[in-house]
Amino acid sequence: MITQKTINEVMNTAKVEEVVSDFINLKRRGVNMIGNCPFHDEKTPSFTVSPSKNIYKCFGCGKGGDPVRFIMDHEKLSFPEAIKFLASKYRIEIEETENTAEEIQQKQVTDSLYIVNEYARDYYENVLFNRAEGKAIGLSYFKERGFRESTIKKFQLGYATEERDEFTRKAIEKKFNIDHLHSLGLTTKSDADFFRARVIFPIHNISGKVVALAGRTLSSDKKQPKYINSPESEIYNKRSVLYGLYFAKEQIRKEDECILVEGYTDVITLHQGNISNVVASSGTSLTKEQIKLIKRYTPNIKIIYDGDPAGIKAALRGLDLILESDMNVKLVLLPDGHDPDSFLAAKGTEEFLSFLKKNEEDFVFFKTRILLGEVENDPIRKTIVIRDIVGSIARIPDNFKRALYVKQCSTMLELSESMLNNEVNKVVKSELKSKIDSSHQKDQTSQTGNEEEWLNAKQILSENGPMLVLNDAWQEKTICDIIINYGHLWYDETENTTIADFILDNTLDLLTYFDVEMYKKILVSVSDFRLSGSKTSHSWFTSHADDEIREFAISALSTPYVYASWEKREMFLQTQKMPDENYIRDATNAILRLQLKKSKKVIDELKHFFDNAKPEDIETEEYILNLKVLQVVQNQRNELAAKLGTVIY
Ligand code: UTP
Ligand code: MN
Repeated sequence: MITQKTINEVMNTAKVEEVVSDFINLKRRGVNMIGNCPFHDEKTPSFTVSPSKNIYKCFGCGKGGDPVRFIMDHEKLSFPEAIKFLASKYRIEIEETENTAEEIQQKQVTDSLYIVNEYARDYYENVLFNRAEGKAIGLSYFKERGFRESTIKKFQLGYATEERDEFTRKAIEKKFNIDHLHSLGLTTKSDADFFRARVIFPIHNISGKVVALAGRTLSSDKKQPKYINSPESEIYNKRSVLYGLYFAKEQIRKEDECILVEGYTDVITLHQGNISNVVASSGTSLTKEQIKLIKRYTPNIKIIYDGDPAGIKAALRGLDLILESDMNVKLVLLPDGHDPDSFLAAKGTEEFLSFLKKNEEDFVFFKTRILLGEVENDPIRKTIVIRDIVGSIARIPDNFKRALYVKQCSTMLELSESMLNNEVNKVVKSELKSKIDSSHQKDQTSQTGNEEEWLNAKQILSENGPMLVLNDAWQEKTICDIIINYGHLWYDETENTTIADFILDNTLDLLTYFDVEMYKKILVSVSDFRLSGSKTSHSWFTSHADDEIREFAISALSTPYVYASWEKREMFLQTQKMPDENYIRDATNAILRLQLKKSKKVIDELKHFFDNAKPEDIETEEYILNLKVLQVVQNQRNELAAKLGTVIY
């Protein structure tokens, strides 16, 4: 393992602008540099590099990080590999520790499991292409289904013959360990081959290693399961694998959308049809772990269902999970009897895509519509449906989104908006209460210890109802109020920096921690506009193409200056200058407040991570990185608190 000392040295030496400009052209803009993002297609540059903070961030696709992260993402390297890469760039000598015997053994076991699976994959692939039975049965089956040879090779498909134990015998001849064959499920307890007379689909993890195999029978015997899969093993946890993700991840990021289908063949056919942002959950309903995997690349999921009503109903409940994780979910229902594979084969790519466009429907509306279809004027059934929908809407963390759904669904359900809103709020409130109760029990001091936060919360509570207490909506709103009111004024004319630039420079890397989608949207929109070189103005906001932004701007400009309710409680109010001259100080304070709030969030998230870490995680790059981040953020938090102390009090 690389020593912490070397890691620190690399991290302290690598300069983000030097590392990035080895790969893309950067131009200076104010204190930052910008260029075209290497992670998604764009014409106007939104990839921003901050030499002072030693980070980069793309405001188009959201990718960002430090120099090490850039190398990991750009060169597709692991953390230690990226450290080595940068060490060689900066001629830093790498110090490595010896692994303990136990570590070495563990690593050897997982490594050899991968090697065994790779052997199996190659074995079945070879049978498919080179053996008479494979060619006659397996290969001709795939070709009949329309799979091109290049597609078959890309997905590393194979064929297992009918023989009882040919694979196992050959593997043992090659000195593979029978225990490994057993634990991967390739060989049964009675030492027969697990996959027999089936076509083989290898299942890859995110870095392309084979973690399992699936085999489809070609017989029409109904007693045979259509697909059998390798059992779970040390390298295969089926809850956290998505079939096809390894091949789809780049395109998911580029399209900023992940298409989710049910089957292996759906994934393969869509890829072959040049629709490659597609993955399958493989027969199970989507799990939390799989959602998290997708969320690494995009917040947008589009699920394609075959038009079978029973299946749809069962699946709908599972999808609430996705709402909870603040993803945007759309559904498309295919015509009866079709799955994505058969539909694409029948229609071709162009028609397939335009069908998706025409028929995609927001998940909540879809669910409402489908469930309502079964009510048939039965009031009791209708109540049950309403409860179900209310439960779904209440899970959406974003307040604005939730309000939007309440509005639309109340029309669909023929209920008054306020009634539906009340019901949703009841659920939100009761969940909030149980959250507060449990955190109260955990940590008495953090509830009572921060008077100011509590007062803020109360203020927000009175304005917005109970839902906003736990989030930072107030700080985010303040930032947006200021950027709209004063964003066009100079922060530092000699540096060509406006108040908007100043705010953007200090908040954009916190955007992922924003609680309110709209405030995030406002900052991104201003940032895009500034990148084009223009200054914002009141009229730019009030004529904004986005309805939400326009409406918010109009109210921000028309309400009298309401910045910083906390300050009203401070004694210096009488000596305060008129607000218009105070915007620089106000912006500074608002940013510090926001950063303080968000740093708490990052710390909480990290603490949660460490609380849940298992001993074996300590070796992982994520763990090491998180430790470092925790230290940095804690220092920043102390600095912020100190600054706020001097600026405000
Ligand atoms: P389908 O029955 O829709 O199969 O199951 P498919 O993918 O369309 O396959 P073809 O087109 O008939 O060859 C959808 C998915 O459910 C899982 C598999 O992941 C399959 O791709 N499944 C299905 C199983 O795991 N076991 C089964 O017995 C059936
Ligand atoms: Mn199918």
